[in-house]
Amino acid sequence: MCGIVGYIGRNDTKEVLLNGLEKLEYRGYDSAGIATLSNHGVDVFKVKGRIAALREKVAEDDTFSNMGIGHTRWATHGAPSVENAHPHQSASGRFTIVHNGVIENYQDIRKQYLADVNLASETDTEVIVQLVEVLYGELNDVSAAFRKAIELLKGSYAVGLIDAEDQETIYVAKNRSPLLVGLGDGFNVVASDSMATLKVTDRYLELEDKEIVIVNRDYVEVQKLNGKVVDRDPFTVELDAMDMEKGTYPHFMLKEIEEQPLVIRKIIQEYQDENDEIKLDENIRRAMGEVDRIYIIAAGTSYHAGLVGKQFLEKLANVPTEVHIASEFSYNMPLLSEKPLFVFISQSGETADSRSVLVKIKELGHPALTITNVPGSTLSREANYTLHLHAGPEIAVASTKAYTAQIAVLAILAVDTAKAKGLTFDFNPLQELGIVANAMESITDLQEEIEQMSKDYFAETRNAFYIGRGMDYFVAQEASLKLKEISYIQAEGFAGGELKHGTIALIEEGTPVIALATQENVNLSIRGNVQEVAARGANTCIISLKGLEQEGDAMVLPKVHELLTPLVSVVPMQLLAYYAALHRDCDVDKPRNLAKSVTVE
Ligand code: F6R
Repeated sequence: MCGIVGYIGRNDTKEVLLNGLEKLEYRGYDSAGIATLSNHGVDVFKVKGRIAALREKVAEDDTFSNMGIGHTRWATHGAPSVENAHPHQSASGRFTIVHNGVIENYQDIRKQYLADVNLASETDTEVIVQLVEVLYGELNDVSAAFRKAIELLKGSYAVGLIDAEDQETIYVAKNRSPLLVGLGDGFNVVASDSMATLKVTDRYLELEDKEIVIVNRDYVEVQKLNGKVVDRDPFTVELDAMDMEKGTYPHFMLKEIEEQPLVIRKIIQEYQDENDEIKLDENIRRAMGEVDRIYIIAAGTSYHAGLVGKQFLEKLANVPTEVHIASEFSYNMPLLSEKPLFVFISQSGETADSRSVLVKIKELGHPALTITNVPGSTLSREANYTLHLHAGPEIAVASTKAYTAQIAVLAILAVDTAKAKGLTFDFNPLQELGIVANAMESITDLQEEIEQMSKDYFAETRNAFYIGRGMDYFVAQEASLKLKEISYIQAEGFAGGELKHGTIALIEEGTPVIALATQENVNLSIRGNVQEVAARGANTCIISLKGLEQEGDAMVLPKVHELLTPLVSVVPMQLLAYYAALHRDCDVDKPRNLAKSVTVE
C-alpha cells in the first residue's frame, strides 16, 4: 500500500527511483510518479497504472538530475488518476511532496489555511504541500514551514518534500506510517521499505513517530518536532537482494508456495538448540509463563493463522486464548483478564489496524509479543518481544509462506510454554515439522494434478465453497480467502456442520464444494456434509489425510501430526487458487484493489 522512495546523491536519480518503485510494487498500487530536481527546476512524471508505463514516460526526457522523490499510490482520497497520483506540487510549483497515510484533519486545514488556494487534486496529500507554501509565506524559512506544517497534521503520514530552490535537501517526516532513511557513501535514500533501496545500501536509520529528518547528500539529521537533534545508530538489513527476484518462476506466488518446505526447515534450525530442544528468548518464556489469557490480534491470512495458533495454545499449553480481528478490536475491546498477553501476528509488521491495537494496549500497560517476518517493522519495534518467522521476503500480495511460518512458530511457542509449565505430552514440534516439510514437498510435486483440479472445479464458476471441521474449518477460511483475492471467484469457507443452517440454499447444479478431511474425529461427519451438498447438485471434491482416505477422494495428503495438518492441507489450496487465477488471466502477484502492506486503518 503506497510506497515512497527518495534519492539525493551524485548519480542519476531516475533509475534509483524507478527501480525502488518496482521493488515496492508488491505492496499494491494503482498509480505512480516521480519528481526530479535539476538546474532547470522540478520535473514531475505521473501515470495511472503500472511502473512500466511510468518508465516509458520518464525515458522521453533526458535531463540529468541527482535528487528526487517517487511514489506508488493506493487510492484512499480520490480515484486512481494522474491528477491524484503523487508527487503533488504547491500552487507556485516551488514545493513537491510524496505522502503515505491518511491526513484526518485535511478538511480543517483546507478551511483554515487554504481558503484562497485552488487545489489541483482530490487528495489529502496536496493539502500538506499547499500548507507548506502558505506557511513559508509567513515564516520565510523552508525548514520552519515544513516543521510547522507537520505539527498541524493529524493522522498518519510518511512524507518526502523537495524545494525547487534547494538542490541539497529532502525534507522527511513520519507518523504511524513506515519510513526509513538509507545511508550511502556520497548519497542517501528514503524508502517505505528497505527492499526498495537494498540495491544501493543495506544501512538504515529507523525513524520514530513525529520525527523530522533533513536528508542531504553527505549527512542526515534526525530531529524531534521541537527541533532537538537525535543521535541514532544505523542498523544493517540482512536481506539478500536475490531473495527479491523471482528467478525462473513465472510468479512470486508460485515461488513462495514452493519455498514453504525450506522455510519450515529454516524455522526448525532457528528455533532448535544444540541439544535439539526448543530455543526461545528467556524473556518470552517468562512472559508466556505469567499470563492468564492470550489475546491474538491479526488481520486476513494472519488472523487465520491465529485461529490455528489458538488450538495449540489451549490444547498444548493450557492457556485460554482469544483471536481477534485487529480492525474490530480497536473499538470493541472485550473485558480483559488480569494478566493478559497480546500476541500480534503480522507478516509485514506494518498493518495499521494491528498497530492501532498495539498503541491502545500499551497505554493500558499490557505486554505485547509480535510474530512477524520483518523484525525491524513497526509492530516488532513497539512490542516488548518479537518472534521472527524467517520466511524471507514475501512479495506476492497473497500470503502463503508467511501463513505456514506463522503456524509453525505458534506451534513451537505453545509447546515451549507447555514444557516450561511442566506439562508433558508426546509431541515434539521440531521433529514433527521436519515431517511436515517433506510432506509439503511431495504436494508441490503434484502441480499438474492440482492444475487439472483447478480447471475441473473453477474454470467456469462464479462462486465456490470450502468446508471443513475443526482445524480443517480454519484452513477452509484461508483457502477461500486465497481463491477470492487472486481469482476474484466469490468464495467462502464454512464449518461443515453450519452449511445446512442457511448457506446450503446457495448450492446449485455444479457449485464447487471443496472439503477437507484431515481430522479423524470428524472424518465421517464432514463426509456426511459432502453428501448433503452432492445430493443438491454440488461439484464436490474431498482432500483427505493418509489413513483417513476413502475411495473417490480427489487427493490424499501425506500423514503428518493431526495438529499440524493445516500446514500441509493449505498447500493444495494455495495451488488451486494460483492456477484458478492463472487460467482466468488474473494478475496473480498483484491482484486488483489489494495492497501487501496495509498501512491505513
Ligand atoms: C492475504 C493477505 C492479507 C494479510 C493481511 C494482514 O493473502 O496477505 O489478508 O494477511 O493484510 O497482513 P499482515 O500479516 O502483514 O499484518
